Amino acid sequence: MVIGPQQRVIAIDGPAGAGKSTIAKALSARLGMKYLDTGAMYRAVTFEAMLRDLDLDDSDHIAQLAIDCDLHVGLDRVIINGHDVTTAIRQTDVTANVSKVASNSGVRKEMRIRQQEWATTHGGGVIEGRDISTVVFPEAILKVFLTASPHIRAQRRVDQNGGNVFEIAAAIEQRDLIDSTRSDSPLAESSDSIVIDTGNRSIDEVVDELETMFVLRMIDGNS
Ligand code: DC
Repeated sequence: MVIGPQQRVIAIDGPAGAGKSTIAKALSARLGMKYLDTGAMYRAVTFEAMLRDLDLDDSDHIAQLAIDCDLHVGLDRVIINGHDVTTAIRQTDVTANVSKVASNSGVRKEMRIRQQEWATTHGGGVIEGRDISTVVFPEAILKVFLTASPHIRAQRRVDQNGGNVFEIAAAIEQRDLIDSTRSDSPLAESSDSIVIDTGNRSIDEVVDELETMFVLRMIDGNS
C-alpha cells in the first residue's frame, strides 16, 4: 500500500487548552514534518471580518470573505491579505467571536479545502483542530484526541496569557459548548482516535508515545 499525503497525517483534535499546540509542534519537530494550526485559520478569518466591521451573522458575506482571502498559516506567522495578524488573532475579542465564524458551513468548506491542499503540498503533516480526524482527514494514519479537566485547561491559559481562572474557565466552557454542538463538523472524538488525558502526563511522555505509534503505523502501512 502506498501512503499518500492525505493519509500521512497526524490529526490532533480536542477542546481548548488540552495541549494540542504544544504537543503537535513538538511532535512535528521530532518527526521533521510540517505543522498546521487550523484554529489559526478560523481566527484569521474572524479577525478580518471584525476589521471590516462585517456582521458575523451574515453567513454568505462571511463565507465569501473566507473564499476570497489570501491566507498563510506558518509555524510562527499568520498572514491574512498581506497583514501579519499573528498576535492580533489571540486577542480576547477574536477568541470570543471565533466560534460563531467557525460554525459557518461556507467558511468550514473553504477551510477544509485549503487544509487538504496544504497536506497535498507538504506531503502530509501534523495538523491540529477540532474536526481533523472526523471530517478533514478521515484516512489519517494517526488520530489523537487530547483532553484534560476544565480546571487544568483554564489554568494553562492563565499561565500563558494571565487573567482570572474562573472567568477563563467560563469562556472556555462556552466556546467548547458552541464548538461541540454546532451542526457542521462539531468537536468530537473519532471512533478510531487515541484518547489521551494530558492532565497528569508530561509533554515529553505524550510526544514519545505518539512518535512511536506513528512510526509503527508507517512501517505497518508500508509493508
Ligand atoms: O484552537 P483554537 O482555540 O485556536 O481554535 C479557534 C476556534 O476555531 C475554536 O473555537 C474552534 C474553531 N476550530 C474549528 O472549529 N475547527 C478547527 N479545525 C479548528 C478550530
